[in-house]
Amino acid sequence: MKVVIPAAGLGTRFLPATKSMPKEMLPVLNRPVIQYVVEEAVAAGADDITIITGRSKRALEDHFDRNPELAGSAELPALRQLDELSEKAQIHFVRQRSPRGLADALLSAEKHIGSHSFGVLLGDSIHLCDPPLLRQLQEVFEKMGGRSSILALEVVPDQKVSSYGIAAGPEVAERTIDVQRLVEKPRLEEAPARTAITGAYYLTPTVFDAIRETPPDHRGEIQLTDALVHLMAREKIYGLVFRGRRYDTGTPELWLEANVRFALADPKYRDRLREVIGDASTPP
Ligand code: UTP
Repeated sequence: MKVVIPAAGLGTRFLPATKSMPKEMLPVLNRPVIQYVVEEAVAAGADDITIITGRSKRALEDHFDRNPELAGSAELPALRQLDELSEKAQIHFVRQRSPRGLADALLSAEKHIGSHSFGVLLGDSIHLCDPPLLRQLQEVFEKMGGRSSILALEVVPDQKVSSYGIAAGPEVAERTIDVQRLVEKPRLEEAPARTAITGAYYLTPTVFDAIRETPPDHRGEIQLTDALVHLMAREKIYGLVFRGRRYDTGTPELWLEANVRFALADPKYRDRLREVIGDASTPP
């Protein structure tokens, strides 16, 4: 499976931490977010991964490269795990020339993807899903005849509807809708459904033509949801309300939540964290 991981955004919601380092390199426990994303892609069957990078994103390339100075260090098993990842999948890096939106980022991978269908995972979001999320999307892709793009969807509460792209349409199979309408960040009264696009996709290569047809928004960015509206005029799109959980790490609050939840689920960190939280009345 070919997978594209866009990681070229500016991360303005996480400044100043992201001024000179990629937000995708922020750690959740001891691993950077991008490593979880690559692990998740490999677990779904990815053997060819393209990470879209940009200015100030060199650390992403270095992370998946060997570091001879660290050979023999006490942390070797952790590094070996990382090496194995690079052996299971070829990892390529392509630069987006300037951060002109998610759809524009995907366009930078077009030459590499060619005429294949491909998975997309965002470089700042981790999914805990069984089976892995891209495998779930690929299964729907195959079930629906192998000619339609599939969007990962999540049912969101009313107060969050206006922060997401919403996909609506009749249910055609278990947890699967035939997408008839796509609305970017609707007001609650105008939202056709509560099923939100979460940022993971299994796309046909026709999406590249659709992106080229899509004008930039008022901020000069080409939004993928807008491009999907163009794609829908050419091909069918389905949405899957996936099984599992998503952890967006794009803001300090969300990143902190991911760290706390992962730490509470890990025997190595759990007890110490509980102790610290119990003692939270003491200022730092
Ligand atoms: P976001 O919109 O969350 O990322 O995009 P951002 O633009 O970096 O964040 P803020 O709003 O400024 O804080 C989701 C994913 O898409 C990538 C980002 O790197 C992130 O992993 N992206 C976004 C690109 O690769 N290129 C872009 O032009 C925009």
